Amino acid sequence: MRIYDIIHKKREGGELSQAEIQWLISGVTAGTIPDYQLSALLMAIFFRGMTREETVNLTMEMARSGDMADLSPISGVKVDKHSTGGVGDKTSLIVGPIAAACGVRIAKMSGRGLGHTGGTVDKLESIPGLSMDIPRERFFQIVRETGIAIVGQSGSLCPADKKLYALRDVTATVESLPLIAASVMSKKLAAGTDAILLDVKMGSGAFMKTLDEARELARLMVDTGNGAGRRTAALITDMDMPLGRNIGNALEVAEAVEVLRGRGEERLTELCRQLAAGMVVLAGLAEDNAQALEQVDRALGSGEAFRTLCRMVEAQGGDSSCLEEPEKLPVAPVCREVFMPESGYIAGLNAEACGLAAMELGAGRETKDDSIDYGAGIILLKSKGDSAGKGEPIARLYSETEERCRRGAERLLGGLGITKERPQKEPLILERIGI
Ligand code: URA
Repeated sequence: MRIYDIIHKKREGGELSQAEIQWLISGVTAGTIPDYQLSALLMAIFFRGMTREETVNLTMEMARSGDMADLSPISGVKVDKHSTGGVGDKTSLIVGPIAAACGVRIAKMSGRGLGHTGGTVDKLESIPGLSMDIPRERFFQIVRETGIAIVGQSGSLCPADKKLYALRDVTATVESLPLIAASVMSKKLAAGTDAILLDVKMGSGAFMKTLDEARELARLMVDTGNGAGRRTAALITDMDMPLGRNIGNALEVAEAVEVLRGRGEERLTELCRQLAAGMVVLAGLAEDNAQALEQVDRALGSGEAFRTLCRMVEAQGGDSSCLEEPEKLPVAPVCREVFMPESGYIAGLNAEACGLAAMELGAGRETKDDSIDYGAGIILLKSKGDSAGKGEPIARLYSETEERCRRGAERLLGGLGITKERPQKEPLILERIGI
């Protein structure tokens, strides 16, 4: 086979056979196909798309390109939750412990943040002492003992995705439905869980800007997961505004604790209740969503979900007293407020602009080798539909320097929409697929 012929076929809108996809992914993994030809192929896929069969074949080949985790030494149903990426999305820190407190087993492998979206690994590493690099046997032991462990994704999981994602990132080919579906689902399949709940984000801060696109992506991923023998379902949820109030690693841990202690922001809490309930249903521990929500509310109300997070943090070497007293978490030295430029209602605070502001403050990384400031970030003081007078503070920024705060404020204000009429709030859960 020749890569030239595969590029040509896709450029003309043809359908790649299973043999061609298999040959392609083994070449990607072995590093025998030059980047310039892979980039051309990615662009052809971006414009021509892929059929469902091609997408499933691509996913399976990418999943098999490295180690396939075997979680069978852990008894019980292992369920994973995956979000397609957002700003201020700390749900993994919340729904994992809630679901674990309800009896679901969570053996989760997470990634770092890149660009304007954050990653669970960075958030957890802001807890002093906590390790995300845990040997396999110890990882299993922690899940058996506490119900949950979250570790960094091993370097040998899905090497083909690593290579293709890095190329997509620099060739403007990230926002392709089949490529996103194959990238997400190959990692989930390789990570070995029995069931997968997808949180497909839609809105200004997400890859999917419309409900139609989000629905197509969700259906594609649900079909792929189910086709591979893993029970898979999806919620499509709003990501026009950042999720919750806090953006930035330690700040997001502190907000996760607020939710687990029953004092969380309303929309974030509601999303976490629904996601955790979905995981309980997928694990077969409740007949339906209503019954699962009762279990979720008991786990939250009794404090068991919070204690589960504390036990996981301790087991992974972290200082859980930082969860009891979040003021012990790292905090950047300079704090500045951002003020409302004119009176009115907050019509929107673009999630991507907030993510980029957090990056300016030092909370994110532009390239994978950048270091991050765990104590940097944003606390939003207003949300969509709130009114504010001119000069009223709408956000608090934390950073290492005044200059970074100034740049962060500029970015944040660039994403702020103000209206004279009170705007409608979008529903949080836009659609459910398979649950
Ligand atoms: N998240 C992934 O892991 N891959 C994508 O392509 C997009 C989001």
